[in-house]
Order: sequence, then C-alpha cells, then structure tokens
Amino acid sequence: MEIIKKSKRMVSTSELLKSKGEKIGLVPTMGYLHKGHISLIKRARAECSKVFVSIFVNPIQFGPKDDFARYPRNFKRDCSFSEKAGADYIFFPSTDEMYEKDFKTFVEVQDLGNVMCGRARPGHFRGVCTVVLKLFNIIRPNIAYFGQKDYQQLVIIRKMTKDLNVPVEIAECPTVREEDGLAVSSRNKYLSSDERKNAVVLFQSLKLAEELIINGQKNLEIVRKAALEKLESNPFVSKIDYFDFRDKDMLYEIERIDQKAARILIASAIWIGETRLIDNILLENNF
Ligand code: PAF
Repeated sequence: MEIIKKSKRMVSTSELLKSKGEKIGLVPTMGYLHKGHISLIKRARAECSKVFVSIFVNPIQFGPKDDFARYPRNFKRDCSFSEKAGADYIFFPSTDEMYEKDFKTFVEVQDLGNVMCGRARPGHFRGVCTVVLKLFNIIRPNIAYFGQKDYQQLVIIRKMTKDLNVPVEIAECPTVREEDGLAVSSRNKYLSSDERKNAVVLFQSLKLAEELIINGQKNLEIVRKAALEKLESNPFVSKIDYFDFRDKDMLYEIERIDQKAARILIASAIWIGETRLIDNILLENNF
C-alpha cells in the first residue's frame, strides 16, 4: 500500500492507473477508521481494481463550537486497518495542501443543506461538499463509497455530483451497527461506559417510530411525539436536535404516511452528554 501526500502526485498516479484501464474506488474518510469504514473499503475492493482511502480531517466542515481539535486521530492504525481491508493507496494531505492561503471557492447545495443537521451546524455541508469535490478532482474515482449513516451527506453529495456533472458514481452503503443496534461512529469513542449503554436509545426511538408506522399510524406528529417521549425519558439524553420524517431523495418533510414519497427517511440527532450522535432508518412507503 502506498501513501500519497501531494495532490499533484495523486492526480498523476490516478491518471496513469486510468490510462491502463484500472477502475478506481474511493472511500473518503476523516480517519480514525472503524467497522463502518472497513465495510466501505471491502465493498470498494470487491467492485474496483484499485482502492483509495482518503484521510483528511477537514477543518472547514467543523463549526466554531464543534470538535475539530478533539476529533480522534490515529494515522498508523488507520494505515494498518486500510491495508488489511484491501486498500492500495492512502491519500493523506496536510491542511495547507488542501487549502492554500488564498483559498476562496466553496460549493453549496441549496436547501438540502439547511435542514436537519444543517440547521444545527450552519456551513457544515458547504465544507463537506467543498472538500469532497476537491477529493473527486484530485483522486478522480470511478466510484465513491458513502455510508447511509450520514444520510443527509449522501443525498447532498449525490445532488452535487449530478448538478455539477461530476463523472463519479456514488455508492450507498448500509449502516454498520454494534450488537445492541447503536450505529458505529468515530464519535462513539467519546462516550463513557454508562453513556455508551444508553446511547442505543437513539436507534430504539427510530425503531419505535418504524413500528408505529408499520402498525398503521399515519399521523407522523403522533409518531414523533412517542419517539420524543422515549428519548426525553432517558436521563443521558441531554438535547434533541431533531426527530424528522423526510422524503429520502429531496429531504422535504412528510406529515402523513399516505403522502406521496417513494421511501421515508426517519432521522434523528441527539446529544448524549457532550457527544452529538445521528442515526436514521429508511422505510418503504407501501402502507
Ligand atoms: O463522512 C465523513 O467522514 C466526511 O464528512 C467526509 C465525507 C470524509 C468529508 O470530509
């Protein structure tokens, strides 16, 4: 496995591989790899002839109150995990390499970036889109792999690539969960053991909403109320950012289950102590 730190070298490596007919798969990450990332790398390995993992903690997607400085980092461990999962190359640029002093250009997907997580984290998706488009331009993958856990991110990146004619296929990969159902995330590391035990309430509240809908409840305000009650009754939940029902492609709000929408996204963001967690499930709208 080769580690590349410079964009120029990355571009020439990628161009050379493509001229030889290689199919490039990219797994963009901010490092501190976990089972979720590993599953993305393995899928890329199964579908592409060359697999790239990018590792870059992107400062412009963190707000002033976010956890950029304390975001976990462990490059050595990331390299060994990536290699074991089947990566051929790691792209590991410095912040200066990605953002030169006179950097002035940002990418923004309107509307989709202002709801759900975007409301609580203004500018976050602008930072994500900007870095992802840069990574696409530098690494030039045929397929890029993203997890459903960050579902809003996935929808926004898909829209950006379509709107801007970026020649990359976006692959959607299922959320990886711990045994009790908690979605795997780098942020789980911040949880104390009591917080960790209670964090599963997020997944449980989503499942409760799903169950109520499957059992016939069509009024989603009633479903939301039940889910919020479950979250609020857990003493470890310090804040609820949102608990939403949305169209899975355009992210507009759905109020009743018989409303026209191909598939419904049930998504929530909550705080367990000082740690913000997100999760979601997708529900077929065929009731
Ligand atoms: O999902 C992430 O880890 C990041 O948002 C991404 C896509 C690597 C962009 O920095």
